[in-house]
Amino acid sequence: MRTEQPTTIHLTDYRQPDYLIDETHLTFELFEDHALVHSRLAMRANAAGEGGALPPLVLHGQDLVLQSVALDEQALTADAWQVDDSSLTLQPQAREFELAITTRIEPQNNTALEGLYKSGGMFCTQCEAEGFRKITYYLDRPDVMSRFTTTVMAERGSYPVLLSNGNLIASGEHEGGRHWATWEDPFPKPAYLFALVAGDLYRIDDSFTTMSGREVELRIYVEPENREQCGHAMDSLKRSMRWDEEVYGREYDLDIFMIVAVNDFNMGAMENKGLNIFNSSCVLAHPDTATDMAFQRVEAVVAHEYFHNWSGNRVTCRDWFQLSLKEGFTVFRDAEFSADMNSRTVKRIEDVTFLRANQFAEDAGPMAHPVRPDSYMEISNFYTLTIYEKGAEVVRMLHTLLGAEGFRKGTDLYFERHDGQAVTCDDFIAALEDANEADFTQFKRWYSQAGTPVLQVDGRYDAASSTFQLLCRQSCPATPGQTEKLPFVIPLRLALLDGEGREMPLQLAGETQARGTETVLAVTEAEQLFVFENVREEPLPSLLRGFSAPVKLVYPYSRDDRVFLAMHDPDGFNRWEAAQSLAVDVLQGLIGIHQAGRPLLLDQRLLEVHRAVLKDDSLDPAMVAEILRLPSEAYLVELAEEADVEAIHHVRDWVRRELATALAETMWSRFRQLGDGAGAYRADAESMARRSLRNTLLGYLMLTESSEALSVCVQQFVEAGNMTDRQAALVALVNSPHEQQKHAALEEFAQRWNAYPLVMDQWFSIQAASPLPGGLERVQGLMKHPAFTLRNPNKVRALIGAFANQNLANFHRADGAGYRFVADQIIELNRLNPQIASRMLTPLTRWRKFDEPRQLLMKAELARILASDDLSPDVYEVVSKSLA
Ligand code: PHE
Ligand code: ZN
Repeated sequence: MRTEQPTTIHLTDYRQPDYLIDETHLTFELFEDHALVHSRLAMRANAAGEGGALPPLVLHGQDLVLQSVALDEQALTADAWQVDDSSLTLQPQAREFELAITTRIEPQNNTALEGLYKSGGMFCTQCEAEGFRKITYYLDRPDVMSRFTTTVMAERGSYPVLLSNGNLIASGEHEGGRHWATWEDPFPKPAYLFALVAGDLYRIDDSFTTMSGREVELRIYVEPENREQCGHAMDSLKRSMRWDEEVYGREYDLDIFMIVAVNDFNMGAMENKGLNIFNSSCVLAHPDTATDMAFQRVEAVVAHEYFHNWSGNRVTCRDWFQLSLKEGFTVFRDAEFSADMNSRTVKRIEDVTFLRANQFAEDAGPMAHPVRPDSYMEISNFYTLTIYEKGAEVVRMLHTLLGAEGFRKGTDLYFERHDGQAVTCDDFIAALEDANEADFTQFKRWYSQAGTPVLQVDGRYDAASSTFQLLCRQSCPATPGQTEKLPFVIPLRLALLDGEGREMPLQLAGETQARGTETVLAVTEAEQLFVFENVREEPLPSLLRGFSAPVKLVYPYSRDDRVFLAMHDPDGFNRWEAAQSLAVDVLQGLIGIHQAGRPLLLDQRLLEVHRAVLKDDSLDPAMVAEILRLPSEAYLVELAEEADVEAIHHVRDWVRRELATALAETMWSRFRQLGDGAGAYRADAESMARRSLRNTLLGYLMLTESSEALSVCVQQFVEAGNMTDRQAALVALVNSPHEQQKHAALEEFAQRWNAYPLVMDQWFSIQAASPLPGGLERVQGLMKHPAFTLRNPNKVRALIGAFANQNLANFHRADGAGYRFVADQIIELNRLNPQIASRMLTPLTRWRKFDEPRQLLMKAELARILASDDLSPDVYEVVSKSLA
């Protein structure tokens, strides 16, 4: 049992720092069994307390061995300071002083991957959010910004490459085969943006000419065996740099921009100034080894980190409660970039699908928190879907309300006003308001109130007066610590469709100006009526187009209405949405029927929509694939009051088989047609769309259990010219009953790719996610595979994460063995890597969604974790909140 509980930190307790650090000089001496960190800090008291007594200086520090402290070049004796396990306190004698500290750390033993650690043979750092304090004593808070100069010293043979932020200003040799390099970053930055790398790395070079004609050197550093896999990341980087100039007027500011790929990394990537450090899964992409999904992820993450240079680095966060200031905004920026580079509609469909299955669940669970939280125990736990994804939706709504031009005026003002500052979400909103004379007072409730609002809309047509009334009612469920919610500002994008599916002109009562055929209504009241006039026939409304607000829309559409919208809505996103909601409705109906023990019968309308979509050559094949892919089990769980895992799994699987059987012929002909002209691999949107539909169809065709499907699938597995097609075939085989072909394929795949950790991640995850019986035993077997290790976060996510999050049937086994297995791994991970341990908890925290026997089993595992020894604050916070 843990003895001391971590304390809760509140936004309302924010105070300015007592001291500031103008300059930070760091020297790292790196050795195999330890590192020495010498820091020299030019410090001064923060203006506030002018004249009065100087407050004590409290520096953050964790897991450090303090070697020496000197104030203004005077060595201090140990009685001049106090150290405990999280701080170093001393008493300055002057308003300005230089503080020199030496600490000793052991990067080789750092399995938490926070601070300075070793990944494979290289040294690297991860400092966001509070990792810098594991390197040296410091004011490790984002509102303390300092100019950094960093010298790295290491043995030359094993670490020929020595990197840090900014520009290289000097380097040289030492005796005994050691060497050093000094880097200087001219831009003041908080410690969380500090980075250092030392290793034996291969370098890919390129360059970019900025809009003002400056030449920027671009470098990607990878382990030598990965040198052929960097082209896509480099192209993505150059496209991001151009896009940020064109869309936001933002130019890069240093002469060099570096990306380093590391295998052991807790997150996707990190935006350290001028020296981004990436999880190798977000950099490396080659057609032989990476799927189209991986290609798109690399493009998105490279863009995301690059965009942080302005939204995050030049303008940063005052405190960690403001995290969404940089993350929500930057996710919105990278989503728009991806939409511009690929299919806008498909990108939106993917993002909305993800948000609704995952962020909505978070917002309805025990860890629900506002986009700007008011308290936390461990900040690492707040890198959430709410901060990132919902935060991006909030910024998107601002963009919608202001229009592209108004939004740009606002961001221009924001960057100009706050360049070099650490600011708040309120500052961001104020800039948008001031540039547009807008008032977002009420809108800001999106930052302070948690929970997913429900928007219930009803329509009434009155033929006599040719009016159509839309009655909108909004509400928001209670969330931890917030029982009452005030109305949000909900931008509702809509059109009214006539009997032919055409958009009708929109004229709102009380307005003189017509609104064209699509408009955005701002729903601001708990209950609000909008009246459209001169509506010549009863319309069918196409609502919440493009998912214009992160809400649950309820409208009394009949199944026929949904079919009509799925066939005719001119808006691509809403066409998909109609098909999707039709499928949800059908699935939910069947789940009820299955629970009642009655025979299942498929509503032919769903079948006909799928048939029509399949035959429609004018539709983007990627869209067709999105429509054919039924709502995920996770989404059906989220939508359910009490999720019946067996029924959900059984019914969804049954519907997929029914569709496959009934549409087999149509599917085969589309499948073959898409195969024509496949040719060499191309990573463009069009080719990806074709592969996406073709492989979706392959998955369906394999469900028909025809021998033809099996031989086509095996052939695709063997002959595929790229990983996307090969992997799709492997997935279909693994989920099929063809034991012999399945094992042969798995075996061959592992043999061929065992030297490629990212490909092996896929191999683990395909098996871990397979819903066939015996899933837990398979996963337990794979834990013993030589390529598996709990120390690598990608492996943990690929095996344990995929099992717990994507394998509903096996994880929720009625005897609780799935829960027990995951809890065992969390207890082990808690010792090694608390951040990853905490992330693996998510599926267990969702216990309220399930039947009572499962609730009891899940809670028992949470209680067992809570009672285990040496619980990290990360795990403690999530477990205790989810049991509360
Ligand atoms: N700031 C990083 C990003 O959004 C994410 C990250 C957070 C990485 C914490 C590491 C640690 O891209
Ligand atoms: Zn980010």
